[in-house]
Amino acid sequence: MEYIVVLPAAGSGKRMNAGHNKLFLTLRDKPILIHTLEVFEKDENCTGIWLAVKPEEREIIQDMLKQYHITKVKGLPAGGEERQHSVYACIQAAGNESELILVHDAARPFIEPSVIAQLTNAAQKNGAAIAGVKVKDTMKRVHNNVIEETVDREQLWMIQTPQAFQTSILINAQKQAAQDDFLGTDESMLVERLGIAVHVVESTYDNVKMTTREDLLIGDAILQKRQQEGM
Ligand code: C5P
Repeated sequence: MEYIVVLPAAGSGKRMNAGHNKLFLTLRDKPILIHTLEVFEKDENCTGIWLAVKPEEREIIQDMLKQYHITKVKGLPAGGEERQHSVYACIQAAGNESELILVHDAARPFIEPSVIAQLTNAAQKNGAAIAGVKVKDTMKRVHNNVIEETVDREQLWMIQTPQAFQTSILINAQKQAAQDDFLGTDESMLVERLGIAVHVVESTYDNVKMTTREDLLIGDAILQKRQQEGM
């Protein structure tokens, strides 16, 4: 199933304390951003990549793309104040290039191609499909450090990206959110509020977002494990 992908990469990475874009930090000598881009560069179903960037970082990113032979990037629009605005900038730049569109955090370099394939199939069939994993811990709702209730974890999933949509659905959802001044923490929220069912595809616990320094250690361990397994 052919698709295009939007990668928001215009964050400041404050929680990483990197002093610059956290996506430039390296795992095994390669920037996190390149690890993520390589997944889509290698996937033959991916026909184009749109990368939201900070204007002042556009040149350094373009140099990186050349250095690592990333050829599928078709646009590098300026990102916005919030992640949702960065995604919108890419969607506007990409237009109706493909029937299916994926949104994926540039900070999640370990997404597996098999999950991408399941997501695109599910989105083609149902309109919207997002990646997630079941929670492992006991979950409680807490207010002022006091437990209000224990929540049935059987129904709880931790949601990740990629999030895959029929392009027209995501465009409508983004437009409506902009009109209503609604800010969501993921694209699914924008689609859910239109009353459209969003399907969840079981992903892997490896698909972590590089957010804090500890995540870099986890990232390094994942790469080591994959190297040992010959992946
Ligand atoms: O900060 P966080 O890790 O949650 O951001 C998720 C992704 O969204 C990152 O890849 C980051 O670069 C991107 N982002 C963006 N524009 C923003 C904020 C975050 O493109 N304004």
